[in-house]
Amino acid sequence: MNKINICVLAGDGIGKEVTDWGVQALETAGSYYDLAFNFQHELLGHAAIQATGEPMPAATLAGCKAADAVLLGAIGDPHYDLNPHLKVRPEQGLLALRKGLGLFANIRPILLFDELLDASSLKKEIIKGTDILFFRELTGGIYFGQPRGRKESGTVAFDTKIYAKYEVERIARMAFEAAQTRKKILHSVDKANVLESSRLWREVVQELASEYSDVTVVHMFVDNAAMQLIKDPKQFDVVLTGNMFGDILTDEASQIAGSLGMLASASLGSEVGLYEPIHGSAPDIAGQNLANPLATILSTALMCNRGLHAPAAGQLIVDAVDAVLKVGYRTRDIMDQQTDSDKILGTQEMGAKVLETIHTIAKRSVPA
Ligand code: IPM
Ligand code: MG
Repeated sequence: MNKINICVLAGDGIGKEVTDWGVQALETAGSYYDLAFNFQHELLGHAAIQATGEPMPAATLAGCKAADAVLLGAIGDPHYDLNPHLKVRPEQGLLALRKGLGLFANIRPILLFDELLDASSLKKEIIKGTDILFFRELTGGIYFGQPRGRKESGTVAFDTKIYAKYEVERIARMAFEAAQTRKKILHSVDKANVLESSRLWREVVQELASEYSDVTVVHMFVDNAAMQLIKDPKQFDVVLTGNMFGDILTDEASQIAGSLGMLASASLGSEVGLYEPIHGSAPDIAGQNLANPLATILSTALMCNRGLHAPAAGQLIVDAVDAVLKVGYRTRDIMDQQTDSDKILGTQEMGAKVLETIHTIAKRSVPA
């Protein structure tokens, strides 16, 4: 049996705890579909800086390029947040990796498990039935634009928000194509009333719209989109937006799903996709068995669906997470007043429950 090569980048903080369970979920679900894995671990972020001085060592990029898919935990450390003048930073590693792998499309599904309706800070009747697929542009915009820097003896700082037509077009096509397989509504989010780069964005999306005449396109300003997401999230189906707006709006949207700890993402654009939870490294809870491993486990399901052409294994993982939630098990970030105290689990116990449930479901349904 040919092994599938996965490059695992645990990163920083809770990254190791959660990717350990992602790895096990893949192995367990894969075993029912004749999928065997080979996991190679590489450094990224603060962990990489400590070991090598660089946030993304060459071996990491090479390991990712040679793999069939990449599983990432999280990067970041408070040391840098408290010292903004530090030149070498963990986030540079992640950005360089995205760029180096050509991952221009970050797909973030806002998937709402009915069992978690009470975990959201929003009203149940507003969020029930929400199903949004975000397409966040990932290798352009203000995150990468040049020039950037300081002038006037460091008293003035600037960044450049820049988009080329082809950058908008390639991700817009992916979003249109996804909308065609869903409710056929595409919200393109920009700030075209103010920003030149947004006016180009809007122009390109408008041009493409004629090729996808079955999709209804709604252009929305980002400030309004931020408000509409909370007011009436069900109006959205596919949302297409730039790098920074997408970063912000998906954190906001995570609250519809109950917790950042539930959301998975896929970064695509070239042969090797990168799959990661959208949450950060959460240094405040690292190493305490408190992190929610479900976002990472759900990221491995996305990996099966989109990168490994093994949708049945992906579905098995999602079904197992759903079943565990249905029984009432919760990590702290997704518990509510109704949660029984004996059903509040740590990272390890939640991970183990999911594995156990993968076995139970698979033995019932997968033909031997
Ligand atoms: C994310 C994160 C990253 C980003 C950080 C860690 C650089 O917030 O993936 O959403 O801003 O893209
Ligand atoms: Mg973010």
